[in-house]
Parts: sequence; C-alpha cells; structure tokens
Amino acid sequence: MTGYLELTGLHKRYGESIAVHDVSLAIGKGEAVALLGPSGCGKTTTLRMLAGLVDPDRGTIRVDGADITRLPAHRRNMGYVFQSYALFPHLSVARNIGFGLEERGVARGDITRRVGDALALVHLAGLERRRPRELSGGQQQRVALARALVVHPSVLLLDESLSNLDAKLRDAMRHEIRSIQKSLDITTLFVTHDQVEALTMCDRIAVMHRGRIAQIGTPEDIYERPAARFVAEFVGRANALAATRDGGGIRIWGAAQPMNDPGWPSFDILIRPQRMRLLPSAEPTGDAMRVEGRVLRRAFVGDRVEVLVEGPGGQLTVELPSGGTLPEEGTAIAVAWRPQDNLIFPPDAA
Ligand SMILES: Nc1ncnc2c1ncn2[C@@H]1O[C@H](COP(=O)(O)OP(=O)(O)O)[C@@H](O)[C@H]1O
Ligand SMILES: [Mg+2]
Repeated sequence: MTGYLELTGLHKRYGESIAVHDVSLAIGKGEAVALLGPSGCGKTTTLRMLAGLVDPDRGTIRVDGADITRLPAHRRNMGYVFQSYALFPHLSVARNIGFGLEERGVARGDITRRVGDALALVHLAGLERRRPRELSGGQQQRVALARALVVHPSVLLLDESLSNLDAKLRDAMRHEIRSIQKSLDITTLFVTHDQVEALTMCDRIAVMHRGRIAQIGTPEDIYERPAARFVAEFVGRANALAATRDGGGIRIWGAAQPMNDPGWPSFDILIRPQRMRLLPSAEPTGDAMRVEGRVLRRAFVGDRVEVLVEGPGGQLTVELPSGGTLPEEGTAIAVAWRPQDNLIFPPDAA
C-alpha cells in the first residue's frame, strides 16, 4: 500500500533492547491513524523518528513520495504535540504559538494573523497575552496544538496528548481534536495507550506490541477481528477460557461445545463480557456455547452490571445492561454465547 506518510522497516535499538522493530506503516492523505500500545512498546520512539528527533538505525520515512529520513527536524514540516506540552513558561501564549514562525523568518504581520487564526481554531481567542501558568491544563493543551498547527505542517504528530487531562475534558478534547483534524484534512499520527482514544479519534489503528505492529485496521476490525491474542486482550476486555479436544469434539470447563475443532491440541477462546448472557442452569440453549457455574459477585457500574461467575475451569465476567433482574450471589447459573463471538487463539501466542 502506498500512502502520503510512509514508514518502511523503521528500526531503532538502544543498547541490547530493540525499541522499534521493523515498523512499516502507510498513512493516506488526510487520514488519522492511532499508534496504540502499552507503555514502553515503542510509540514515542517511532514518533520521534518521524519528527527527526531520533535517528533510525535503518528504514525509511517518506512524505508525499519524498525520502525525508535524513532531513533535520526543522526541515520536515511536521507539527509535534509533546506529551508534556513543552510550552515556554516565560513567553505569552501568542509568542509560544508564533515561535516556530519567528524562527522561520516569517514577517511580523503574517505571524500575528496566523497566530490569531490558530487561536481561533482551538477556541482560545482573547488569551494571547497570558502565560502558560495562567492557563488550565486543557487550555495549555490547546496552545500546544495551535503551535503545532500554525506552521501548516504536512503531518501532525500527537504524543499521548490527552493523558494529562481529567476524564470530562479528555472527552471534549477528543472530539475537538478529531474535528480540527478533519476540517484541516491533515495527515495525523496519534500516539496513545488509551483504547477509547484510539477507537474514537482515528480512521485506523495500528496496535503496537514490544516494538512491532501487531495489527493495523479500522477500529471495528481491531475490536471484532483481532489478529493476535495480545490485540484481543489489549483492546476491549475479554474472558479467556481454556478449551480442550475430546474425541471429535471440544470441551470448555468440562462441557461439550457446538463448535468445529481448529486442530490445535489445546487453545484459548476469548469472549467479550458483553457478548455473554446468563440463564437458569436448567434452561436449554440450543446451538449456543455454554458453561455452568455459580454467581460469585455482582458489581453495579452505573450503566451496566458486571457479574463474576465461577466454574470448574476458573472465573469469567458477564456484562449486562443495568436495570434488569439479576441472579443472587451463590446461585447456580449457565453462561451462554454465540459461536460467532468466539475469538480463538493458540494458548501461547502473544
Ligand atoms: N533514549 C533512550 N535510551 C534508552 N532507551 C530508550 C530511550 N528511549 C526509549 N527507550 C526505551 O525504548 C523502549 C520504547 O520506549 P518508548 O518509545 O518511549 O515507548 P512508549 O512511548 O510506547 O511508552 C522502552 O523500553 C524505553 O525504555
Ligand atoms: Mg511514550
């Protein structure tokens, strides 16, 4: 696949450890892609290589067909929003935003106009004279975003840029950044460890694990059709149930199951908690997958209820909408789900 922003075989080692392992990724013009993975998986290192702040050991970076791998940072025309915002504390909001333009020798009047446009874009008009410490976390975040956008970058890079904000503000900024990104049609790589951010802010997600890309796809692909067990467990929640072969059939928690044998000696089946349902132990379930257990605990989480069920093979969580009647703790219960909701992986695959 060709893209507007293309990384090919990007590799970076620090001493004995490989931070980024042959990462290839193509991002279309105007597309927003999330680089999603746990802390330490190589997201920031990847972003810093794109920005020219870290030299890759090998691999190439292209923007619109041009190889920029060896270009210095200031000639790459990328907007970078750092995790810590990295605003200059002694400079006003306007000077912070205009700094990159001053460095590039843009004329005074043009700077004023472009800083004004950028401030309006992030809804901060009127705060030009403030210092960063006189702003809330959300406003500082907007200044950092305006500073990245004011240079009219060809690519926008955001590193965990919402992680310092409280939950409500994070929600609002998520929508705002996405709508700015769409209105400017700017090619964006958005680094996050937060699956909700990745699922809601981007056209596609690249899930990263130990320096490698484990899967690239639309949010729906990643959630519904995870290509690796790591992806299934990192994005969304999942119950992992050990399955065994028994003659021609499959058993889970000792119970025979209506499913085909994938051919491995043993394997795990992962099921999303909200794809499972509870029913009385005696009630038949037809073609559904099914295990038997006992209600161990119920937790009310507002819009939903989590029911922890314990059975012969361990524990699992069933998630139900709140408001319905629930079985008492200690009740014998059956848990059922549709075979098409099985996510099947060999036991040790990561
Ligand atoms: N400058 C550095 N020197 C040595 N090791 C580093 C350096 N930067 C990152 N690393 C290591 O590389 C790995 C990936 O780090 P990073 O890209 O920051 O991950 P993430 O952003 O996904 O949390 C980590 O193991 C980290 O400790
Ligand atoms: Mg990081």
